[in-house]
Amino acid sequence: MKKITSIDLFAGVGGMRISLSRAAKRLGLIDDCKLYSEIDSYSRQTYVDNFPKTKLIEDIKSVARKDIKKIIPDHDILLAGFPCQPFSRAGISKRKNLKRAHGFDDKNQGDLFFNILDILNTKKPKAFILENVQNLKTYQNGKILNQILKELRVNYYVPDPKILDAQDFGLAQRRKRIFIVGFLRFNGEFDFPTPTYKKTTVKDFLDLYPPKKYIISDLLWSSHKKRKIKNKKAGKGFGFRLTHPRDKATVTISARYYKDGSECLLYRGKNKNPRRLTPREVFRLQGFPESFKFSVSDLQAYKQAGNTVPINVVDKVCSKVLVYILKQNILYKKVA
Ligand SMILES: C[S@@+](CC[C@H](N)C(=O)[O-])C[C@H]1O[C@@H](n2cnc3c(N)ncnc32)[C@H](O)[C@@H]1O
Repeated sequence: MKKITSIDLFAGVGGMRISLSRAAKRLGLIDDCKLYSEIDSYSRQTYVDNFPKTKLIEDIKSVARKDIKKIIPDHDILLAGFPCQPFSRAGISKRKNLKRAHGFDDKNQGDLFFNILDILNTKKPKAFILENVQNLKTYQNGKILNQILKELRVNYYVPDPKILDAQDFGLAQRRKRIFIVGFLRFNGEFDFPTPTYKKTTVKDFLDLYPPKKYIISDLLWSSHKKRKIKNKKAGKGFGFRLTHPRDKATVTISARYYKDGSECLLYRGKNKNPRRLTPREVFRLQGFPESFKFSVSDLQAYKQAGNTVPINVVDKVCSKVLVYILKQNILYKKVA
């Protein structure tokens, strides 16, 4: 058996890591994650539930550029689903309302890309996989994405990024994400994975016996319906959205789903109140296995599941990246 090493930045609950691990296994490789970085304590709780022994750096900004060499372990692949709020539509409009900076100007979250860049340019892993919201492509007319690519291309071969949709990869959720990959050595054109178009419906991801507590109350249901009528009259969005179990896909389940779940309420039959998805169902719609553990509250679990990556998609991207590096015949290391 050979092994590949990785670091998992902005790790959330480890969706990127799970994907890499799956892809590595199919290729007969052992993956060895040397470090993860996650600032949120609840996400770390879930991460540790599933990966108890990995070295941690809580805030990646705490690693000064001059210390990267010493603090960050050597690795073959850098994984980073860096925070998307500064670039996402909802995040931008929230920041505008609060008169806060967005994009790279958000000094809290927007400039985290530069921490990734410093690590790449110092540690020079063989490859990297970055994930973000599709809006990054058009944000500021593509200026930000172009700047990101220009910086990355100083040391890496970076093919044009690709937007992939979870619903095209066997998950019943519409979730378009942009993927940016890069390689230290050029070894021919890189092709992103092609969709599997495996047919699924929302029902395939639902619990057989969901607890009753997820059915919304009469009060909430009637207020949703009233708001919908009010919004319609005012020419605004429609408010809640009913999803039928036989639908091909839900809308994108975001980290805000914990609020009232109105963007995806499940139809339960005529004259019945709809219900929310359970946290387990949201993880399933992201491709997480049943063995995935979480011991946090529902609120935190919804946030984490809405923030993570669609495993089925990232797994396929990881496969392509691994095969690309394996072809270079520079990855293999004997397991000690
Ligand atoms: C979009 S989520 C990534 C989710 C992850 N890819 C997964 O599969 O669960 C971004 C994550 O970055 C974390 N984060 C934000 N700022 C950070 C920082 N300065 N250092 C480390 N993690 C940070 C957030 O708490 C959040 O969990």
